[in-house]
Amino acid sequence: MRDSRFDVLFEPVAIGPVVARNRFFQVPHCNGMGYRATEALAAMRGVKAEGGWAVVCTEETEIHPSSDLTPYVELRIWDDRDIEPLSKISSAIHQYGSLAGIELVHNGSHVANRSTREAPLGPSARPVGWVDPVQARRMDSSDIAELRRWHREAVGRSIAAGFDLVYVYAGHSMSVIQHFLSRHSNDRNDEYGGSIENRMRLLREILEDAREEAAGSAAIACRLSVDELLGPTGLERGEIVEVLGALGEHPDLWDFQVGPWSEDSSTARFQPEGYQEEFVRGLKQLTTKPVVGVGRFTSPDEMVRQIKSGVMDLIGAARPSIADPFLPAKLEAGRAEEIRECIGCNICVSADMLSTPVRCTQNPSMGEEWRRGWHPEKMARVMVAGTEPCKVLVVGAGPAGLEAAQALGKRGFEVVVVEASRDVGGRAMKEAALPGLASWRRVVDYRMDQIDRLTNVEVYRESPTSVDDALGFGFDHIAVATGATWRSDGVGRSHLRPIKISPEAQVLTPDDLMAGIRPRGNRVAIFDDDHYYLGGVLAELLVVEGYSVEIVTPEPLVSAWTVNTMEQGKIHRRLNDLGVKSLTQYLVAEVEGASLVIQHSVLGKSKILPCDSVIMVTGRTSNDGLATELLEMSSQWNDAGLRTVRAVGDAWAPSTLASAIWWGHRYARELEEEPANIFFRRELVGQITSP
Ligand SMILES: Cc1cc2nc3c(=O)[nH]c(=O)nc-3n(C[C@H](O)[C@H](O)[C@H](O)COP(=O)(O)O)c2cc1C
Ligand code: SF4
Repeated sequence: MRDSRFDVLFEPVAIGPVVARNRFFQVPHCNGMGYRATEALAAMRGVKAEGGWAVVCTEETEIHPSSDLTPYVELRIWDDRDIEPLSKISSAIHQYGSLAGIELVHNGSHVANRSTREAPLGPSARPVGWVDPVQARRMDSSDIAELRRWHREAVGRSIAAGFDLVYVYAGHSMSVIQHFLSRHSNDRNDEYGGSIENRMRLLREILEDAREEAAGSAAIACRLSVDELLGPTGLERGEIVEVLGALGEHPDLWDFQVGPWSEDSSTARFQPEGYQEEFVRGLKQLTTKPVVGVGRFTSPDEMVRQIKSGVMDLIGAARPSIADPFLPAKLEAGRAEEIRECIGCNICVSADMLSTPVRCTQNPSMGEEWRRGWHPEKMARVMVAGTEPCKVLVVGAGPAGLEAAQALGKRGFEVVVVEASRDVGGRAMKEAALPGLASWRRVVDYRMDQIDRLTNVEVYRESPTSVDDALGFGFDHIAVATGATWRSDGVGRSHLRPIKISPEAQVLTPDDLMAGIRPRGNRVAIFDDDHYYLGGVLAELLVVEGYSVEIVTPEPLVSAWTVNTMEQGKIHRRLNDLGVKSLTQYLVAEVEGASLVIQHSVLGKSKILPCDSVIMVTGRTSNDGLATELLEMSSQWNDAGLRTVRAVGDAWAPSTLASAIWWGHRYARELEEEPANIFFRRELVGQITSP
């Protein structure tokens, strides 16, 4: 039974002609599948509806070839042929009684139209938002009329495809409507430029067109960036108040978000839950229409507070719904502690950035619903007729081991987890103690909570396991999830062989720092050849402790891979503010007693960098010794009753936290399964020959 404190979250909300059955609203989010994988996309959205989200929206849906987000794979509604694949998505959502929303977009001068080669369009003639040598053409009155026609036709097609709620999108600086609205991107001096009345003209016209076209058969939503975070040169509160004063009653729902996408989907390292409240508070009072807002909401108490204090009517969520598609259903069933809370890492964003199917650190089934048949809450029970349940030993209680154990437990295996140290959680727990990564704990908390509820999974701490132990207790299967160890010899991307290191030098690794060991002198260099978050996080740790820190990295940017999680600029600014120096495009070639030989990664020139200690954030070595030994002893397995041995997670191949968890999960899903039940479906795109 649900806790009565949360009753308000389950009240229905009328949105124009339709009614949301509760206040949980999955706001638009892309997923790397888009028009290329609509079966997979439909299955993913369907799972959200099944999990209790009253409204489930698509991602950006391009309305015309002049809005072509390639290489990012979004949805398209260019012509009538798109209706059929889109209707698969709305049907999957309707199957569970939820409303299906579609976010129509014309990206204006945000895109370079890399695939269609159409000239980008915008209110002003200017280079496009991406670093492409392409400019947008200033739209004339016939272009504006065409844009309105495309949008109107897309509304009609959306309704034909079964959507209940159609978005007019003026958010994230990604939409031509916002480009017109903002003085930052609109330099016109006709009736569409200059005053805010003129700049909001296109928004007004498109809202009116949309309402007229929908004619009450679908609700019209408007997603609006309520602050571009550009100060007085962009959209700010004052003008937004004017927009709402003029157009507040035009759509059936307002969906407010803040800033460009990187600010809206800020990571936990840079923003806490509910961080958009200061921008959104008070706007709801300017309209009678329901308002949805976002802010990485995972705490039901915080959701209740935002509703009761009049900030919003509907709890918008992208990432919390990715991490736990069953968040509303769990709350409704009185299982709030079982919510798999988003950790705010933006691995989901990285999938879109890299045009791969969406993935999630916390929810390994995300993006796998259709192609592997993984459901986030259902596991096939292991079927071994007439015998005792198989016994599985999981060695290591890090992210992969815990995920494997809880999933195996749910499948009905008898599971024993042995952990050499006193603490469970492995790297997730150790990293959670570093600056900005406290939410990594949730990885461990969720899994330990699930394990605690299972009577068939036991965890033994301080239990180092030898080959004899592993063979001695009659396990059918052994999963070795013993993680990986950071290397101290410089081997990584730049060096495939150990580098020259003087015996007088102090070389530390991230593992050393996480174990509490500290540099012996004040001048510290971090050689970041890993390029994800850890190098920057360790720099932050040390500089705050009083060390003088310099990051040496062969890439042109510090923490270069974090462009994919939209954190790179923020990391750069934070490190700069803290006084961390960065030597980009340099690699460490040699470590001497109190200095490094560093070499320019492009020009090859070397120079000396004085330092007392160097931290190697380069490569890792799998801790796969136990797995290797066991595999070498396969002739003894039969006597021990052992059938399979498998390394999983970082012990198999070091990678992201998300990857370790996924591997642990996959192991559990596939153990004792018939090969025929282990599938990986593909959507084979046929050639479209019709005009
Ligand atoms: C992976 C991902 C993809 C997104 N794609 C879109 C999109 O297509 N359209 C859009 O309006 N917002 C998009 N967003 C932004 C979200 O709708 C939302 O406003 C933002 O993530 C903040 O909400 P959250 O904290 O609940 O994630 C995306 C967010 C994520 C995480
Ligand atoms: S990948 Fe990270 S940020 Fe995205 S939903 Fe999952 S846990 Fe949250």
